[in-house]
Amino acid sequence: MTEYRILLPQRDLPKSWYNVIPDLPAPPSPPLNPGTGQPANPSDLAAIFPQALIEQEVSASPSLPIPEPVLEVLRLWRPTPLHRAYRLEKALGTPAKIFYKNEGVSPAGSHKPNTSVPQAYYNQRAGVKRLSTETGAGQWGSALALACNIFGMQCMVYMVKCSYFQKPHRRTMMECWGAKCIPSPSDQTEAGRNVLAEDPECTGSLGIAISEAVEDAVTHKDTNYSLGSVLNHVLLHQTVIGQEALAQMKLAGAMPDIVVGCCGGGSNFAGLAFPFVPLKASGKNIRLIGVEPTACPTMTKGVYAYDFGDKSGMTPLLKMDTLGHDFVPAGIHAGGLRYHGMAPLVSLLHREGVVEAVSYPQLKCFEAAVTFSRAEGIIVAPETSHAVACVIDEAWKAKEEGKERTILFNLSGHGHFDMAAYEKYFAGELSDYAYPEEKVKEALAHLPKVS
Ligand SMILES: Cc1ncc(COP(=O)(O)O)c(C=O)c1O
Repeated sequence: MTEYRILLPQRDLPKSWYNVIPDLPAPPSPPLNPGTGQPANPSDLAAIFPQALIEQEVSASPSLPIPEPVLEVLRLWRPTPLHRAYRLEKALGTPAKIFYKNEGVSPAGSHKPNTSVPQAYYNQRAGVKRLSTETGAGQWGSALALACNIFGMQCMVYMVKCSYFQKPHRRTMMECWGAKCIPSPSDQTEAGRNVLAEDPECTGSLGIAISEAVEDAVTHKDTNYSLGSVLNHVLLHQTVIGQEALAQMKLAGAMPDIVVGCCGGGSNFAGLAFPFVPLKASGKNIRLIGVEPTACPTMTKGVYAYDFGDKSGMTPLLKMDTLGHDFVPAGIHAGGLRYHGMAPLVSLLHREGVVEAVSYPQLKCFEAAVTFSRAEGIIVAPETSHAVACVIDEAWKAKEEGKERTILFNLSGHGHFDMAAYEKYFAGELSDYAYPEEKVKEALAHLPKVS
């Protein structure tokens, strides 16, 4: 019998998160206070984050225990299945062995609940009543709505305007879990009103929505802010994916030569790839590839510099690959990949040559997603289609070179709320966006000056 899915029993759900920081080839650069330009104190973050998450953000422990109430919720869908893509391999006629971790099986449909659940838990334990956040494609907003509902908290979501109208049912999903979701830029915050005054037609960006959500948290006493990617603690929470994948690959008697994930802020890629970093460091020849859109080529065309995480400069400065905090990417359907920066830990590993980065245009990604759905059955999110496009290219290369390579990728989410995007693709109404060189140049000219 062909084993299409490699499953772990529920008792094998990882009990701790893997922290990559002690395994980095160079020390991470500290976040800076935007006012003083000095390393940020934990107290600088206390206005918007609970103490437990601030401690995780800076922890140097190799692993951190997952609290039992968090495990209890994760067990609703974890461990997630590892699939062997036999049918895709056959369709491509490749000698490559392709595996994927299916994070689309979570209640919200993506990897995002892996961090929304612990974030809601730690906030609730700290007495916080309400969380504010931004969302691109709606995956993160719905994941936080789900987690807030589980822990009896209110949830306020600022959703990037172009995605809000592309994916109306994501908003309904958030409402099912009791959250409130409005399009960003909105007139509810000063940050949003400033953007609208400059450009009433602005389609929004993750950087703008983050400004609105942070302002919401700072101006409401009962509210904290929650971020769905980029920060160290978010990447940490996602490492359950890679730890499970390692155990499942062992069960399958295989080890990846190539690990692939799409990159918005870097969390699903890091979640899968980071647990492989020690193996790579010990000499195993594993390529870790992050895939981004050509419309928002943060690692492939950005600079490695201190920048704000948001549009209006409210967050601490992070040393990261960035296109400039006021860069507004074109309205591609992979809304979750429209972020100007990359997680500092992923950026550092990229700059140190541990992580490779590639970029793909929208049409090629949809073509790959359709090939995948016709072979494997699963319709992936537009974000995930970037990983699929890269995997298919690597499988072709293996065929050309006659190599039996093993490829593992993260199927970060399903695309059931993205039918409008697929519809446009089939109608020939989607286009690629060239690398926005002038816009990036302009945005990079506004990087904050750091001595
Ligand atoms: C399905 C899916 N994959 C990937 C991403 C990109 O985020 P990250 O790079 O943090 O994994 C998103 C973001 O919304 C998403 O919804």
